[in-house]
Amino acid sequence: MRIILLGPPGAGKGTQAELLSKKLSIPKISTGDLLRDEVEKKTNLGIKVKKKIEKGELVDDELVFDILKKRIEKNDCKRGYILDGFPRNINQAEKFYKLFNNDQELVIEISLSENELVRRLTSRRICKNCGASYNLLFFRPKIKNKCDECGGDLVRRDDDREDVIKKRFKVYEDETKPLINYYYKKGNYFKINGEADISEIFKRIYAIIKNYIEKFAERKSDYLQNK
Ligand code: AP5
Ligand code: MG
Repeated sequence: MRIILLGPPGAGKGTQAELLSKKLSIPKISTGDLLRDEVEKKTNLGIKVKKKIEKGELVDDELVFDILKKRIEKNDCKRGYILDGFPRNINQAEKFYKLFNNDQELVIEISLSENELVRRLTSRRICKNCGASYNLLFFRPKIKNKCDECGGDLVRRDDDREDVIKKRFKVYEDETKPLINYYYKKGNYFKINGEADISEIFKRIYAIIKNYIEKFAERKSDYLQNK
């Protein structure tokens, strides 16, 4: 099954994708992480996309698509995967659906107000070494500026400056939000309010997924019986 987490910057897509990945034993794929990895390694792709990410703009669809396709073709995605931050516009969604046509596609939007996401993202810190995510307001590391997992240094993401966060939110409103109507019409769209505890949001998302899987199994068995 394919789970798509939609939502504005800072809504908690990465946090929830990580928890779901552990619970469901399927990988989480964040196009943002894949792109930042290329920037860090200074590959040709990384050099091309660095400026766009720093400015809070979307990277060209073709570039994102190529890197995502390579990731999904790996063996660990055979049972399914969780997409965090993809698709970002209707063109990406359609191109993706054409290539990986799959009925079991569930879309969950995590919503959050602009004020709250600015608050969260200006206080987010990331481990430079292992990528673990912390928050100075909600989820502090045990030792100041050091990762609990690996002891690496905690840094601010280059696009977590207030002006860039606001730009990212605007890009979400203009380019990504139309996907809500697109998936709503397909009938596979659910929404939850992201303004609650991480564990509470996880419970709500997991309940939606469980229900969806059960319904899908029922439909499949009805279909097989009537065949
Ligand atoms: P991407 O990396 O996808 O960033 P984003 O969508 O802006 O979202 P974030 O990662 O900032 O937030 P999140 O929702 O994952 O929240 P998190 O869980 O970390 O994209 C970055 C850039 O890459 C884009 O701007 C674009 O340039 C490019 N890009 C990526 N994908 C692309 C695509 N498909 N097409 C084109 N370009 C693409 O949580 C945030 C903070 O809040 C953390 O500190 C966390 O600890 C805390 N937190 C989480 N949940 C809660 C809660 N419930 N209560 C309190 N705090 C919480
Ligand atoms: Mg993220």
